[in-house]
Amino acid sequence: MSTPALPLPLVLIGPMGAGKTKIGRRVARALEVPFIDTDKRIVADHGAITEIFAERGEPAFRELERDAVAAALAEPAVVSLGGGAVLHPDTQRDLAGCTVVLLTVTGEAVAARIRTDKRPLLKNGTGDWQRIYDERRPIYDRLATFSFDTSSEPIERIAERIADWA
Ligand code: S3P
Repeated sequence: MSTPALPLPLVLIGPMGAGKTKIGRRVARALEVPFIDTDKRIVADHGAITEIFAERGEPAFRELERDAVAAALAEPAVVSLGGGAVLHPDTQRDLAGCTVVLLTVTGEAVAARIRTDKRPLLKNGTGDWQRIYDERRPIYDRLATFSFDTSSEPIERIAERIADWA
């Protein structure tokens, strides 16, 4: 265990399939602080993400997501955000005061690990993943305090490195 030297919340951002949830859970355990996954909070409060997109549309999802993120960022926790949460200007503003870790991944690595059935933006397969990542990359880079590539190392090792760094 190590008490984080960096201020909490420690926030994980990055594209779909970068490992934000799995790595965030392990980092929180190593730091002995709570873990919050904002997608899971949205699902618990409002139902499946695929259904929110289908019935209410992406803009409505982004507003629910903005609220879930704002609540999570008030906690002394490790917080994993959905890949598109950084699109909201309110979230961009709120993240300015946080320790933000960007998890990156290559298109080759993501194709082997990502589940498309729960991700409405990938309903046509992983083909759209790279375009979405490229569009968001400037936002990710601007908000990140530090970044870790998750393509070729086991998630346990990446989580250890982030916890040691924090
Ligand atoms: C999204 C990413 C998903 C989820 C939703 C939209 C996105 O989370 O929030 O399907 O816009 O990139 P993950 O990054 O955990 O897959």
